Amino acid sequence: MNKTISVVVAALIIAGGGYYFTTAPDTGASQGPAPTEGEPIVTVTLPEALSTRAELGARAFDAVCADCHGDNAAGRMGYGPPLVHKIYEPSHHGDMAFQLAVQNGVRAHHWQFGNMPAQDGLTQADVGNIVAYVRELQRTNGIN
Ligand code: HEC
Repeated sequence: MNKTISVVVAALIIAGGGYYFTTAPDTGASQGPAPTEGEPIVTVTLPEALSTRAELGARAFDAVCADCHGDNAAGRMGYGPPLVHKIYEPSHHGDMAFQLAVQNGVRAHHWQFGNMPAQDGLTQADVGNIVAYVRELQRTNGIN
């Protein structure tokens, strides 16, 4: 019961973050502060603990992905989208989408951050660990 409520709250926070992000850029100065460049785009609740695999993934993520996707995959205004976001739930962006994104890069299609360049120096196993990390973050935030 309690858990359900916190999951719903987390989902609302994420939805709110996404809404804020997609509506903020064109609103002009009069409608309150837009998120500042470099700031997180959504609020991410952290799991109490990560699996060993996700722990490894977190390290690789912080080294290679966080510059654009933000700490805890919360997104980074001006650089890249949150991966803790409904768009990236497993049924819409399966694990293969992560492998392909790293291998080939991504042409901008969901957001306005430009294209994602291919990322060198990661094995498929590394990316598998990153996926485990992102999925654990997603689940804690009600994205299944
Ligand atoms: C230079 C910035 C940058 C870096 C570094 C980066 N990304 Fe991205 N990534 C982006 C942007 C921007 C998008 C959104 C493209 C769009 O508009 O849909 C994206 C999209 C994605 C997507 C969605 C792919 C799809 O099919 O839509 C995945 C998954 C992803 N990134 C994973 C990663 C992982 C994992 C890493 C680290 C190994 C990483 N990214 C590093 C900028 C980056």
